[in-house]
Amino acid sequence: MNDVKTADTMRAMGQDVLGGPEVLKEIELERPAPRPNEVLVRVRAAGVNPTDWKHRAQGLFLGEPPYVLGWDVSGVVEATGVGVALFRPGDEVFGMLPYPFGHGSHAEYVTAPARAFAAKPAGIDHVQAGALPLVSLTAWQALVERAELRAGQRVLIHAAAGGVGHVAVQIAKARGAYVIGTASAGKHDYLREIGVDEPVDYRTTDVTEAVRDVDVVLDTLGGETSVRSLRVLRPGGVVVSILPVGSDDFPREAERLGVRAVRMLVDADHHGMRAIADLVETGRLRPTVAGTFPLAEAAEAHEIGETGRTTGKLVLVMD
Ligand SMILES: NC(=O)c1ccc[n+]([C@@H]2O[C@H](COP(=O)([O-])OP(=O)(O)OC[C@H]3O[C@@H](n4cnc5c(N)ncnc54)[C@H](OP(=O)(O)O)[C@@H]3O)[C@@H](O)[C@H]2O)c1
Repeated sequence: MNDVKTADTMRAMGQDVLGGPEVLKEIELERPAPRPNEVLVRVRAAGVNPTDWKHRAQGLFLGEPPYVLGWDVSGVVEATGVGVALFRPGDEVFGMLPYPFGHGSHAEYVTAPARAFAAKPAGIDHVQAGALPLVSLTAWQALVERAELRAGQRVLIHAAAGGVGHVAVQIAKARGAYVIGTASAGKHDYLREIGVDEPVDYRTTDVTEAVRDVDVVLDTLGGETSVRSLRVLRPGGVVVSILPVGSDDFPREAERLGVRAVRMLVDADHHGMRAIADLVETGRLRPTVAGTFPLAEAAEAHEIGETGRTTGKLVLVMD
């Protein structure tokens, strides 16, 4: 660790041990250089996601630290590696670093395959663009690619006010679906504003008992919710769960009911990012930014996010 930042170094939020938000600390690292087919991006803003605090506390896919977390990026291409034809220095880009092993955007600079990025839509700033990549790729891959959601279909989105949920609602509306979304009652006006047709208060109503004839469920909660959600489906319907590990009851019950059970992890994708940029440019997708934090205050963002009550996204902003 250096005391003085030089042109070859950068600030990042790192951790040496697993634990609570207090293990995050500002560190000085060597600025990475882009390898062939990679770009070096000066990060301007980066969303914080549940996977950040899960990795911070439990290591999950990454194992033991030291490491720098963060997968969301909005920023400016600083340099390109050999062979990169997609972008040039100075281009504004947004994207998700390859999940899970390409982490490291909670830093001033990051390198990644050029194809992890797309051009940042001109109509939104870096904070908004930094909020979008991981949650919108997740929602896109779940609803459009896995479930092939079509106009006129009924979709149930659990935790519709959350990071993934609020984007999923807008993607579903953009495809012409009828959207049922769950949140506590105080968030129902917000749900209607972003396009939910039928808000359900999960605290007073078991949505898996209250709704039927659903074509697609986006399960953001896992556990019993995955299995119970199968019951709301029409024959041939699908529950896409973004909690990728869980009980065998989920596929077993799906088979018994003649419906589909899919578990998935988000995957970095240039074309998905372009589709998301197109939704933004055509006014059909806007992130809700619940709060911004300087990079040095990442621990506070983790602390707030970890309560599980956020509406939209928390975003780290680099100077
Ligand atoms: N597989 C993947 O690749 C992938 C990708 C992204 C996310 N995920 C996972 O998906 C989950 C959701 O992520 P996220 O970013 O959307 O989380 P988030 O933004 O932290 O979700 C917060 C929202 O959840 C709502 N909520 C909490 N408990 C609820 C319940 N029982 N029913 C309905 N709503 C509830 C809260 O609303 P109230 O205040 O009204 O309770 C709040 O608005 C996380 O576990 C995350 O790790 C997986």
